[in-house]
Amino acid sequence: MAHLSDAPGRLSASAGDPCILVIFGASGDLTKRLLMPSLYNLACDGLFPERCAIIGMAADAMTSEYFRAKMTADVQNYKTRSSFDAKLWARFAAGLHYITAKFDDAAAFQRLRALVAELDAAIGAGGNILFYMATPPSVFGLVSDQLAVAGFENAGKGWRRIIVEKPFGFDLASAIALNEEMLKYWSEEQIYRIDHYLGKEAVQNLLAFRFSNGMFEPLWNRHHVDHIQFTVAETVGVETRGRYYDTAGVLRDMIQNHMFQMLAYLCMEPPASFRPDAIRDEKAKVLEAVRIMTPEEVLSSTVRGQYGAGKKADGTAAVGYRQEPDVSPTSSTETFAAVKMHIDNWRWEGVPIYLRSGKSLWKRGTEILVQFKKAPEVLFRDVPAVHSLGANKLVFHIQPDQGIELRFNAKRPGPEMALQRVDMRFDYSESFEASRGTGYEVLLYNAMIGDSTLFSRSDLVEQAWRIAQPILDTWAETPAPELPNYEAGTWGPKAAHDLIERDGRRWLEVISRAVLEAVPLFKGTSAVFLHSLALVLEPDVFAAGDVIVTKGERGREMYFVARGEVEIIADDGSVVQSLGIGSFFGETSLLLSTPRTASVRARTQCDVYVLSKAELLKVLRDHPRVARTLLDTSRARYGAAAPFDSEVVRFLDANPPQEE
Ligand code: BG6
Repeated sequence: MAHLSDAPGRLSASAGDPCILVIFGASGDLTKRLLMPSLYNLACDGLFPERCAIIGMAADAMTSEYFRAKMTADVQNYKTRSSFDAKLWARFAAGLHYITAKFDDAAAFQRLRALVAELDAAIGAGGNILFYMATPPSVFGLVSDQLAVAGFENAGKGWRRIIVEKPFGFDLASAIALNEEMLKYWSEEQIYRIDHYLGKEAVQNLLAFRFSNGMFEPLWNRHHVDHIQFTVAETVGVETRGRYYDTAGVLRDMIQNHMFQMLAYLCMEPPASFRPDAIRDEKAKVLEAVRIMTPEEVLSSTVRGQYGAGKKADGTAAVGYRQEPDVSPTSSTETFAAVKMHIDNWRWEGVPIYLRSGKSLWKRGTEILVQFKKAPEVLFRDVPAVHSLGANKLVFHIQPDQGIELRFNAKRPGPEMALQRVDMRFDYSESFEASRGTGYEVLLYNAMIGDSTLFSRSDLVEQAWRIAQPILDTWAETPAPELPNYEAGTWGPKAAHDLIERDGRRWLEVISRAVLEAVPLFKGTSAVFLHSLALVLEPDVFAAGDVIVTKGERGREMYFVARGEVEIIADDGSVVQSLGIGSFFGETSLLLSTPRTASVRARTQCDVYVLSKAELLKVLRDHPRVARTLLDTSRARYGAAAPFDSEVVRFLDANPPQEE
């Protein structure tokens, strides 16, 4: 058979083993959206085996010709490359076949066996067969049974491997039962359990980063790391997946699998080698060291949330979870969760690990933060311009931006010793020219070459359930908080912020320039200014009715409203003014160095950015236009009667704004 690809082969990788790939459930979404585009991408990169045929099998009636035509249309819709190589695809599509069958039809599996034998004889696949279960787990056993009855186990030479999709169980008991069922027919080495997060470049890079760079590993422990955060935020709601999701919830859907996989990579011990089992052993070991929570710990260390109606980031209306199709109108399924965990081993004792994930949030972003302990502040005690030191932060941007960022303190240019938070950044898109993929390419390719490193082993899956089970049990046994408890399009429930703030920490919120430009005060300011600001703003959430600023207190922070509304309260309790998205408050006592002039209360649930006084002073000095607007707004808000006579204000009054 001719080479599928005219692309030069990669230097370090050769095409997968010859094989017949059989996809059960091939008429579904997964095949058209991810599998075919990935196989096509592999072919474009010269990694798809020359001697390979694909058989789709599913209940939807189709001929092979129709299947080929359908895949040809679908791949053009879902391809990830900007161009489409029609000639290459035509050669690829010639190897597609289809069998219409219900999985309880034994005769269909005989037909499958005959077709596999025929194709193998024609292309020389060496007897290798890769089965892909693109089906619900409820039929894994049935299909495995049928394959055994049809004699696939003893069908001559070559290897047999099976790829299975999540969910691997619904809880610990069902995961153990599913593993037992699979292991009845297959050995552990033959089973490739997919967790698509392991297919993401930036996730795989966690290992490369940790173990190929000598400078970080000595710091990677409780002596130097203050805490670790994992965030997987999604803007999408459950949309058409209500039937599945309402029985799952975010703990099962995201945390127990994808997030624990990332946690294992970030926190595991160095493996003895890059052999699949050396890595999988270390991943399993670190999960075994995760503290299993008591019911009391679950109540104090976890938060669950569910979204109500709200607005998407683009301003359009978003329905509440209970109004989504196929979701019970009284559902208490969680669409958001935050969890504080501990790893009880030598390396991580006492280092809290915070995880949170949710649907219908304000922005999409998967980020991991490793926050280091602060340097001693003693040296800067008598340096007037330095109020406190920022901690060093290492941020892994997993998606949609892919990169790594290190945040640290630097001296601001000028005669005085003043510090500012700055960052160094590695961006995948600036350093590499790889074509965009689906993330499944590497998984399919590795299954074809028999490398199981990126797949979940049964012990790891079960251990992940052991960690999640007490949380699920305690949640099931205790009444849910009043749900919904966050609006679609926000940063999630306030309780999640309280969880981390109780420990004197804050969630990392990656704030882009575009987000800040939407704040009227910052419109038209320089890129340097917005970048510096993005590094120093801290996120916080307040529930309706919370008093954010109290009259008479000494203010150390000012606030920008990102979502929701606040109201300024007069002495007699009446509302002086309401402030919405893009406005700011709390600035007066920072400008004046006097106690707060008024109280401010959240009218609705509010997401705010907090700017500390120290950072504000830098803004005032370097960006007089912003400072001037701040001062003018403040004067208009509180009237000329307010004592606007502090040193900062006098400085501003004496120095009219210049162009920034
Ligand atoms: C899936 C979940 O496993 O991962 C979905 O079932 C979720 O609910 C998806 O949206 C997230 O994947 P990604 O790659 O978009 O982060």
